Amino acid sequence: MKIAVVGRGNVGGGLADLWEQASHEVKRIGREGDVSEAEAVVVAVPGGTIAEALNNVQGMEGKTVIDATNLAGVDPPEGFSSNAEFVKSRTNGPTAKSFNTNFAALYDRIGEARSKPSNLWCGDEEAREVVEQLNRDAGFEPIYAGPLENAALQENFLKLEFAINRGGLGRFFYRMAPPDQL
Ligand SMILES: NC(=O)c1ccc[n+]([C@@H]2O[C@H](COP(=O)([O-])OP(=O)(O)OC[C@H]3O[C@@H](n4cnc5c(N)ncnc54)[C@H](OP(=O)(O)O)[C@@H]3O)[C@@H](O)[C@H]2O)c1
Repeated sequence: MKIAVVGRGNVGGGLADLWEQASHEVKRIGREGDVSEAEAVVVAVPGGTIAEALNNVQGMEGKTVIDATNLAGVDPPEGFSSNAEFVKSRTNGPTAKSFNTNFAALYDRIGEARSKPSNLWCGDEEAREVVEQLNRDAGFEPIYAGPLENAALQENFLKLEFAINRGGLGRFFYRMAPPDQL
């Protein structure tokens, strides 16, 4: 599949590595570029920069997009309950939220897990085939969490993960990934 990742940091760059290992063709975009050739676009920029990031990317119209952003201490753009719904309003194509609930620092250890790690996705039915394939090809078992209207719940999942962390399971997370790498 021809994939474009917008944001080539921990998440975008890490997923690009995994997908290339699975024989996909990945175009890595930083702050500007063109995704018109892509069959799937993954958005992995800082959550508060989503509007600015999309403004600087050409060829997004109608694309199947997976939004992997999290909202750490920021709100989604005004008028939207989630970044993923904002993305859809800008692209008007099949849209999903996924890859925002697993830590990039663990991408190179997916194969060590006792069972295949699950990864949540919610979004449009038209995006299902692409999202589920890209989950499996990255080493995850996709878990469907309902329509795109549930994206705000999935974006809030990060707060729950951090609450669990602070509640005592932190040492377990930290043993797997030091906090400065999460
Ligand atoms: N790290 C994780 O474990 C993790 C897990 C799940 C979800 N997330 C979410 O995924 C997103 C990406 O996280 P990350 O850890 O991959 O971040 P990161 O390493 O800092 O990478 C961010 C990327 O976004 C690009 N970018 C595009 N437009 C930008 C703008 N206007 N301002 C700043 N950067 C811009 C950056 O470009 P340059 O290369 O030019 O700097 C960079 O390539 C975030 O929303 C984060 O909350 C992170």
